[in-house]
Amino acid sequence: VKKITVSHFKKMKAEGEKISCLTGYDYTSAKILDEAGIDLVLVGDSLGMVMNGYENTLPVTADEIIYHTKAVKRGLKRAFLVADMPFGTYHSNIDDAVKNCVNVIKTSGAEAVKLEGGREIIPIIEKLTSSGINVMGHLGLMPQHVHTMGGFKVQGKNGYDSILQDAVALQKAGVFSIVLEGIIDAAAEEITKNVDVPTIGIGAGKYCDGQILVYHDVFGMFDDFVPKFVKKYADTKSVLLDAAKQYINEVKSSVFPDDEHSFKAKK
Ligand code: KIV
Ligand code: NA
Repeated sequence: VKKITVSHFKKMKAEGEKISCLTGYDYTSAKILDEAGIDLVLVGDSLGMVMNGYENTLPVTADEIIYHTKAVKRGLKRAFLVADMPFGTYHSNIDDAVKNCVNVIKTSGAEAVKLEGGREIIPIIEKLTSSGINVMGHLGLMPQHVHTMGGFKVQGKNGYDSILQDAVALQKAGVFSIVLEGIIDAAAEEITKNVDVPTIGIGAGKYCDGQILVYHDVFGMFDDFVPKFVKKYADTKSVLLDAAKQYINEVKSSVFPDDEHSFKAKK
């Protein structure tokens, strides 16, 4: 297997090859995604919701991201690994932001970090990229801004010039790609045309250079809420639910374990 590196993504955009991305949070599922041929795995701060049951991503810590990223790293041979920087780890000053990002790269095995934000975080991104750290941008619906957005709202409906300017600024600061989340497809199309780094869409329509979805959504495991942009590729929850019920029944009725699953004395 040929390891995917940061240099592949620009080439894929140039050649019109779409980039496939998913989130991942643990060793076993990372192995499945890698074996399937995924290009990029993001250890998203969405782990706050799907792994921990928080209402939003705000409580997630850098230590949690590092813990999950280390696990995912052990499951990957080919895919490129990105760690999400959680809320509060790059929001006070440049020095702390850089220190926190360096720590994630140093300890987790991630090959890049992802930061939400536009022009306001450019000095941080410039410092990171000039220090040898790959940065993925994230524009549009930024879940870490949930309180100031007033909920999770689709962006760009009343114009998207500001998002476009942010994307151009991120590119100038050296990001290797930009996640576009929850924006109208016309905005994503315009941004994708105007930057030469790949755009990775989630709820951003078909014109992006790649797509990303959350692991638990794609496999139909998470049903606290299912946004419109989620396509379920499997109904894993019902598979697990049925299997769990069957196991419970067999234990209750002493069907399991049978002799086939038991150790016997030597004859
Ligand atoms: O946290 C996350 O999973 C993300 C992706 C959905 C882009 O930021
Ligand atoms: Na995130």
